[in-house]
Amino acid sequence: MKYLKYFSILSLLTLVVIQFIKPDKNNHGYQSVSLFEKETVPTKQIAMILKNNCYDCHSDQTNYPWYNNISPINYWLEEHIKDGKKHFNVSAWDAYSARKKDHKLEELIEYVEQGEMPLDSYTWLHGDLSNQDTETLLQWAQISRIEYQKQMLELAK
Ligand code: HEC
Repeated sequence: MKYLKYFSILSLLTLVVIQFIKPDKNNHGYQSVSLFEKETVPTKQIAMILKNNCYDCHSDQTNYPWYNNISPINYWLEEHIKDGKKHFNVSAWDAYSARKKDHKLEELIEYVEQGEMPLDSYTWLHGDLSNQDTETLLQWAQISRIEYQKQMLELAK
């Protein structure tokens, strides 16, 4: 029993101490989603869908939930953001070629259609896309792809 008591106190102390250690926030004002939105021209409604369901992990503008103030939850969120941005970052859109942009939108359609995005661990607290939102998002992505495919044809001339 004595050990159990020490163990509990030690665990509690550790939890208190790690609250002072936090990862850097993914909130870089200098790069934003504006180029991406200028090119793919989402309607206001679609821009809201992207902002509320995707940009937290796929842009430099994460809107953090309150529980991000708790270590080690924030490290766990940080991993998803890093990984998400590595694969698809709308704030780095200017660095993508037309082919890559088209391919990312192709992936987007695939992932959203199969219900793989947003991640389950995210929808658990944020809620998932409605069928209507999914439909709207897919249509917008299909149309945006056409523009990049045109650019690719131009480049191939
Ligand atoms: C909680 C973080 C998170 C959210 C929210 C999220 N994603 Fe992701 N996304 C990831 C991670 C992590 C990966 C990479 C791992 C994987 O492919 O499963 C990824 C991968 C992707 C890819 C694949 C890119 C590639 O080329 O491999 C696409 C496309 C994508 N997400 C689109 C979306 C869209 C669209 C939304 C909103 C409807 C969304 N994601 C919401 C974390 C997230």
